[in-house]
Amino acid sequence: MEANQIEETIIKEMINKAIAQLDRSYAPYSGFRVGAALLAESGKLYCGCNIENAAYTPSNCAERTAFFKAVSEGEHKFKGICIVGGKDGILTEYTAPCGVCRQVMMEFCDPDMFQIVLAVSEQQYEIFTLKELLPRGFGPGNLA
Ligand code: THU
Repeated sequence: MEANQIEETIIKEMINKAIAQLDRSYAPYSGFRVGAALLAESGKLYCGCNIENAAYTPSNCAERTAFFKAVSEGEHKFKGICIVGGKDGILTEYTAPCGVCRQVMMEFCDPDMFQIVLAVSEQQYEIFTLKELLPRGFGPGNLA
């Protein structure tokens, strides 16, 4: 497995923190609540929820909320993110990140190392690398 693998106790903490975000989700239009917990290389966790808008397009996904909070606090290196989501906040299946969020991950994360934890509970989760979810992604390296 990748050198960067995250300890199981931390994975469980990420899952619990992502689930806790479901209460904060602002999703009056879709009713689909999403929570995310992003682990920085510093060891700090940054959480986020989706935030919708009456004009629809300004809506922000939970993952990007977490990334933008972290980057605005000075973090640029990340180990992984946990994502949970479901209609009315009820978790029955995995919620995979949308294409825009995968691209934001590509900006700050090593696709071979960054771990994306899709969870429905502390017991039920699966881990993917960014490369698995965004093969042949375009990133900062392409402009170097
Ligand atoms: N959503 C996320 O927050 N993350 C995802 O990866 C998928 C979609 C949000 C956006 C919108 O508020 C709601 O889920 C329905 O698309």
